[in-house]
Amino acid sequence: MRLVLLGAPGSGKGTQAAMLRDSLRIPHISTGDLLRAAVKAGTPLGLQAKAVMDAGKLVSDDIVLGMLEDRVAEQDARAGFILDGYPRNLAQCAALEALLDRINQPLDVAVKLDVPNELIVERIAGRAAAEGRVDDTPETVRARLRVYAEQTAPVADHFAAIGKLVTVDGVGELDEVFDRIVAALPA
Ligand code: AP5
Repeated sequence: MRLVLLGAPGSGKGTQAAMLRDSLRIPHISTGDLLRAAVKAGTPLGLQAKAVMDAGKLVSDDIVLGMLEDRVAEQDARAGFILDGYPRNLAQCAALEALLDRINQPLDVAVKLDVPNELIVERIAGRAAAEGRVDDTPETVRARLRVYAEQTAPVADHFAAIGKLVTVDGVGELDEVFDRIVAALPA
């Protein structure tokens, strides 16, 4: 199974991707996690990405695609993967489709988690208090939600147009949301 998880910041992509990874036994590939690891390791790429991430903007398509290509080429991704945080704009969407064509591994489904903005702001405030992620400040969250509406929402429209989008209600207990996602996956 090759699936993309879409949804606004704080909609639960990372949480649900980890649950799907354990249940489907395929890797969870998060471009946000890959970038945060590069920042933490202080690599040149991480240093370049840090300011952009702290401002809630998108890191350059080339950087993210390079990281994704490397990760998808790893052995454990041969049986499939859950992509979280990619693609985030229409250029990344085209790059993903070209990559998957090239390796002959077409995407099965894109799952969009639907969560109202008020609840997103509440969830992220909770995470900010618990974990102190640097891009979880109210101002940066507003910027991330704006980027999502302007650049990432059209990606969901694209997957809908090619018949690969399912939208799942992301409000409720973790297990409830998980069950809805599993029920929406293609056989
Ligand atoms: P990224 O790490 O992808 O962040 P994001 O999309 O903003 O998503 P979040 O991690 O904030 O939220 P999530 O949907 O995963 O929700 P979560 O499960 O954590 O990207 C960060 C930055 O990296 C970007 O801004 C950009 O700069 C850069 N970047 C990443 N990918 C890129 C790309 N492709 N191109 C360019 N730049 C890129 O849940 C949030 C909170 O809610 C948690 O505390 C969780 O416990 C809680 N929660 C989850 N589900 C529930 C529930 N059902 N009920 C109650 N609480 C819940």
